[in-house]
Order: sequence, then C-alpha cells, then structure tokens
Amino acid sequence: MISKTIEQALNKQVNREFYSAYLYLAMSAHFETVTMKGFAHWMRIQAKEEQVHALKIYDYIIAKGGKVSLIDIEAPKTKWSSAGKVFEEVYAHEQKVTAMINGIVDLALKEKDHATFEMLQWFVKEQVEEEEHSRDILAQVQCVGDIVGHLFYLDHQLGKRE
Ligand SMILES: [Fe+2]
Ligand SMILES: [Fe+2]
Repeated sequence: MISKTIEQALNKQVNREFYSAYLYLAMSAHFETVTMKGFAHWMRIQAKEEQVHALKIYDYIIAKGGKVSLIDIEAPKTKWSSAGKVFEEVYAHEQKVTAMINGIVDLALKEKDHATFEMLQWFVKEQVEEEEHSRDILAQVQCVGDIVGHLFYLDHQLGKRE
C-alpha cells in the first residue's frame, strides 16, 4: 500500500510527465512549421520519453495497490521566437521537474516509504541527464546564434537522435 499523500503526489507527477510530453510535442510541432526537421525529430523523441516516465509512475501506483487518477493536461504554448528561446524553456522546465521529483523524495523519506523512495531514485538520476542534455543543447544553440549554416548543421546533428 501507499499513503494517500504519496498517492496524490505520484498522480500529480504522472500529470506533470504527460504535460512534459505535451510541451515537447508542441515544441516539435513548432519546429516542423519552421522546417527545422532535426530539432522537430529530437523533440518528438523527447516527448515519447516523457510518456514513458509518466507510465513508469502510473505502473508503480498500480503495483502498490493505489488508484491512478488522470486529470486535465494543461495546454502548452504553440509558438516560440527562436530555437534559443525553446531550449531556454526546456532547461528551465527540466529544473522545475527536478524540484518536483525532489519534493516527492522528501515526502517518501518523511513517511519512511522505502519502496517509493527506491522507485524515485531512477528519476533522480534521469533528471541529472535531462538537465545536462538540455543545458548542453541550449549552450550550442546560443553559440550558433543566427548563423544559418551553423544552425543547419546543428539541426542535422539533432536529427540523428535515436
Ligand atoms: Fe520526465
Ligand atoms: Fe524530462
């Protein structure tokens, strides 16, 4: 079993992971409209990963005999002024998600809920990578600036993500 408090926090996180997927899919769609196909591809894979994150927590709630409650997913915005602006937002968003995960870890520790604590360790590690990757791409995009040739090269590189 899991406590109602933990169940609520995990359900909220399921929603936030789906929101992340939605946000990155919106960014992917944005890149499609400005024909930056590599960026669009990278974001689409990112969106898929966020769905996997959501379902990981979803499955855990069920495994622990809890109740999954799906609520509305907030609509993300649809337009960004530059690739730099997109990645500024990605990096800030991932930092926010890290704080959310840490908040649930604190809660699990407080409740001496070892199973939830253990499950969340995967997310703690994942967030280190998520922040690193988004920060790296942000730095690259900022470095490239408005130089079309360089931006095209970066687009090509991001298009290789598997
Ligand atoms: Fe995530
Ligand atoms: Fe993420």
